Amino acid sequence: YTFTLVDKETCISCGACQMAAPDIFGEDDDGLSFSLIDDNKGIKPIPEDLLDDLEDACDGCPTESILVSNHPFSADAVEQQ
Ligand code: F3S
Repeated sequence: YTFTLVDKETCISCGACQMAAPDIFGEDDDGLSFSLIDDNKGIKPIPEDLLDDLEDACDGCPTESILVSNHPFSADAVEQQ
């Protein structure tokens, strides 16, 4: 399985990820991107049919803020957001 979340510390709100993967990434009240899949927790697997979009988003982020892992992101990692 594949998990993702946005590092809001480094996201510069460029919006490219939301263009590349509108079913995965949205914009929060501060204009920063976050994962719609599980409210940026990185604990819910990305549906298989969205993995190409995820790769595009990941490749296209200018600040490498889209974190991707084969394991769920830990609660610790989420709390640092
Ligand atoms: Fe932010 Fe990167 Fe998306 S800068 S808006 S996470 S493409």
